Amino acid sequence: MGLLATLERPSVKLVFVRADGARREIETGDACSAMEAAVANEVDGIVAVCRGSCACGTCHVYVPPEWSERVGPASAMEDEILGTISLRRPNSRLSCQIKLDPALDGLSLETPESQ
Ligand code: FES
Repeated sequence: MGLLATLERPSVKLVFVRADGARREIETGDACSAMEAAVANEVDGIVAVCRGSCACGTCHVYVPPEWSERVGPASAMEDEILGTISLRRPNSRLSCQIKLDPALDGLSLETPESQ
């Protein structure tokens, strides 16, 4: 991808909300996952040990109900990893499996108390 194409990519705003209510707003391109954007911006609570291989569960987030339709459901493989997480809730997702696109601009994700 050339520099011009990179500069022309739409930006996506993400808000990460910690369990204590602290908010962290970041802006990123749309060619990455929510996990990659979080790690690049050193967002608390997103460890991402496996770096997006859908194998560790340390990029776990909760998707607020108003975003669940746009984010979509977990795949079978993701669901399997989510099943190993004690803090799992019905709205749990792995942020490495949330591919950003302009429709997710403004997406808010909650991070669990501890991973
Ligand atoms: S980074 Fe390991 S499952 Fe998402």
